[in-house]
Amino acid sequence: MDDKKIAGERAAELIRDGMIVGLGTGSTVYYTMKRISQMLENGLKIKAVSTSSSTTTIAQKLGIPLVDLNDVGKIDITIDGADEVDSSLNGIKGGGGALLYEKLVAISSEKVIWVVDSSKIVNQLGEFPLPVEVIPFAYNHILTKFKDMNLNPRLRINNGDFFITDSQHYIIDLYINKIEYPYELEKTLNSIPGVVEHGLFINIVDTVIIGKDNSLEIVNR
Ligand code: A5P
Repeated sequence: MDDKKIAGERAAELIRDGMIVGLGTGSTVYYTMKRISQMLENGLKIKAVSTSSSTTTIAQKLGIPLVDLNDVGKIDITIDGADEVDSSLNGIKGGGGALLYEKLVAISSEKVIWVVDSSKIVNQLGEFPLPVEVIPFAYNHILTKFKDMNLNPRLRINNGDFFITDSQHYIIDLYINKIEYPYELEKTLNSIPGVVEHGLFINIVDTVIIGKDNSLEIVNR
C-alpha cells in the first residue's frame, strides 16, 4: 500500500467525537480526509477548519463540515503533511503554498500531527526549497535582499505567471540546500518587513506519523 495512505489513514484514528479538527493540505492528508468522511458516515461528529482552498474543495466534496478559524475557540487536533522533517521534529512546509494558513491553524491547535512518507525524513533541513510568503508590493526588493543574504531565492512561478497564495501573496522559494541554523534563520526571516510568513515550522508538531515500507513509525516530541 502507498506509505502516504498508511500514514494519512492512521492519523484519522486520533480523532474523537465532538472535536474541532484542523485539516492540512496535500496528497497525504487527503487520505486522512477520505478516512474522516467514512467515519462521518458511521456517525462521527466533528467540525473541521481548512488550511487552503484546495482542502476546502476536497472537504466539501467529501461532506466534511467546515467552520471558520475565527468561529472556534481552539482546535483540538490538526493533521497536516510536511515537505521535510528533521530529527528534532522541525520541518519545512509550504510546497503547495499553503504555509500561512497551515501555520495559523497549527498554532491554534492543542495537538499537531504530521503525516508523511519516509522520503520526507532528513538529517538536516534545506534540500527542499524553503517557501517564504511575501507582500507583492515589495517582492522584488525582498528578492534582492535574499540574494544579498546568499539565500538563493527564486520567485515561484505557476503556468508562466506569479504563483498567488490563498491570501493573495507571492512565494519566494529559498534554495539553501543545508539550513545550518534553523532557529536563527527563523528569527531573521521573521524580522524582514514584507515577509508575511515562512515555511520553517519550528517546535510546532507534537507527533509525526511516518509511513515506511508498508508499515508505520510514530515519533512523539
Ligand atoms: C502545503 O503547502 C504543504 O505544506 C503540504 O502540507 C506539504 O507539501 C505536504 O504535501 P504532500 O503530503 O502532498 O507531500
